Amino acid sequence: MSDTEQLKSEALGAIEGADSLDALEGLRVGYLGKQGSISALMKTLGQMSPEEKKVQGPLLNGLRNDVAEAIATRKAKLETAALNAQLASERMDMSLPGPETAKGSVHPVSQVMEELAEIFADMGFAVAEGPEIEDDWRNFTALNIPETHPARAMHDTFYFPDKDDSGRAMLLRTHTSPVQIRTMTSEEPPIRIIAPGRVYRSDSDATHTPMFHQIEGLVIDRDIHLGHLKWTLETFLRAFFERDDVVLRLRPSYFPFTEPSVEVDVGYSIEKGKRVIGGHGDDADGGWMEVLGSGMVNRRVIENCDLDPDVWQGFAFGTGVDRLAMLKYGMDDLRAFFDGDARWLGHYGFDAQDVPTLSAGVGARI
Ligand code: PHE
Repeated sequence: MSDTEQLKSEALGAIEGADSLDALEGLRVGYLGKQGSISALMKTLGQMSPEEKKVQGPLLNGLRNDVAEAIATRKAKLETAALNAQLASERMDMSLPGPETAKGSVHPVSQVMEELAEIFADMGFAVAEGPEIEDDWRNFTALNIPETHPARAMHDTFYFPDKDDSGRAMLLRTHTSPVQIRTMTSEEPPIRIIAPGRVYRSDSDATHTPMFHQIEGLVIDRDIHLGHLKWTLETFLRAFFERDDVVLRLRPSYFPFTEPSVEVDVGYSIEKGKRVIGGHGDDADGGWMEVLGSGMVNRRVIENCDLDPDVWQGFAFGTGVDRLAMLKYGMDDLRAFFDGDARWLGHYGFDAQDVPTLSAGVGARI
């Protein structure tokens, strides 16, 4: 076997045996690189006689080409093997269960608002809304709250520095009662609405937060009297607390926008050491808890909305949604409502699938 043939079989054997791309590259440099053995042989052609060159030229060229081709073939093979190994190691097992992710829940305030909307819808009430940024005419003046009323004092109300285009002072509404004005000035009676939403007062401790939620109720029709108010509230509170033995106590009170005004208490009793709504408050172990402000809409408010108070009468009520939620679901610190603590929400929140309905029950799934 000639030297060239010997070198060739040696080279092809080594290339075939290379088990990594690095090893193959090492061989390429050793044979075909600048200092490589085949390259060195190619250089000897220059010193050969023409006859010798004629013989050796094709032999050496053939050697170089065969080795280069063997390297390319081996390289492709090794690359395919490397890719297959990578694909095998990076394969995703689609049959694994999804990762544990945080599950959202419905905030008790949203839940209670849904419950209230459901209960009142059943009594023929529509849901009305008003803006949280109000003017002082709708929040105070039209509701017969004079300039000197304590609710107007700066320490209760958040005012904006600028007035609106018609010169009215702007503020964050301190109650949902301005929605009464918005509804009476934009709709023809008869009116039956509830208006849930955020309200703001400059106040903060365990039972007061600067922002909280109220729900307003308003009925305007002919020949409406206090009996309608009492029946409506009783029906609402019994449905809400899901007990037929909810007893109401109406106490004379004062609100500038209702006349007469009544504050409504519900009786509670002690069951297993806990206060629960239900039963007569004067029973042994019982007591009364204030839950609502209400009354017959003041004639002056009806007049302020350009309606004739000799034709149209009605009643209104307002209550704190957060407070209702606390009473029904047994939470004791109002501030926790607005902390956004996922553990609190996980404990007191509601499943989004649990839509309150009158037929299936409006809550109490804790
Ligand atoms: N707006 C009153 C408050 O915030 C509640 C209320 C509403 C009272 C309607 C009577 C009638 O305290």
